[in-house]
Amino acid sequence: MKYLLLETSEGFGFITINRPDSLNAMNSDVVNELESALLQMIANDEVGVIILTGSGDKAFVAGADIKAMQKMDPEKALAFGKSGQKMTLTIENSPKPVIAAVNGFALGGGCEISLACHIRVASENAVFGQPEVLLGIIPGWGGTQRLPKIVGTGIANEIITTGSQISAQEAYRIGLVNHVVTQDKLMDKCKEIGKKILKNGPNAIAKSLNCIHESFDKSIEAGLEYEVNTFADLFETEETKEGLTAFVEKRPANFR
Ligand code: COA
Repeated sequence: MKYLLLETSEGFGFITINRPDSLNAMNSDVVNELESALLQMIANDEVGVIILTGSGDKAFVAGADIKAMQKMDPEKALAFGKSGQKMTLTIENSPKPVIAAVNGFALGGGCEISLACHIRVASENAVFGQPEVLLGIIPGWGGTQRLPKIVGTGIANEIITTGSQISAQEAYRIGLVNHVVTQDKLMDKCKEIGKKILKNGPNAIAKSLNCIHESFDKSIEAGLEYEVNTFADLFETEETKEGLTAFVEKRPANFR
């Protein structure tokens, strides 16, 4: 991989977007590499939690590559937008939780990548925003769809139409990130959350994420129906039998 650093250890799959000269801006090649890396981590049985970050101490991802977009016509923009959206769907639909370790600028496509992650943790210097309107474009990798679901329509309307930069503390206040820590503690915090996840049943984790995601836009009745059927199906699995039996036998469950 030319633009990514990949590492696996102790149940974690680390993906670092590594294009520091451009503050990790995403051109088509970076998008395609990220898609492949995610699929690789999802397929790897040794990985239970994926942590996504940017290289350096300044940027998570400073957005889609503006220099590349300057040369695009509508046809190329459509293909670029669709490949970015596909990549964000791969994150969102991952059966393994993806944690965004937002270590600096998360603007435009960078913010949108973080929005697709299941959990966002920010360092104090992180800056979020959807500044597309400053460039005469709009968010194209899910910003208009996912941001309102996370922070509410009113706040999303303001963030997207003003293009304002949002500090890490403000992101925390509006529910855009789960935690804010000093930059030197960012990976530790992500791993601390990840370690708690890794103790639990991988199938139960995947099904929980799936229920949350699948039911988001459904009526409460339809969502509950989906949830209860998923719940019941688990009782056929070895993982569920192990989890319930381990409790009764007063021993730790052996899931992995
Ligand atoms: N696309 C392409 N290149 C980018 C980029 C992007 N989204 N963001 C930063 N870069 C490049 C800069 O062009 C610069 O390259 P250069 O040295 O060859 O000119 C390099 O990264 C460093 O950026 P620079 O602007 O000098 O850093 P800064 O600290 O002064 O500012 C930002 C940082 C993030 C505020 C600023 O780079 C910025 O506004 N970037 C664009 C953010 C954006 O609009 N993203 C949404 C795109 S849809």
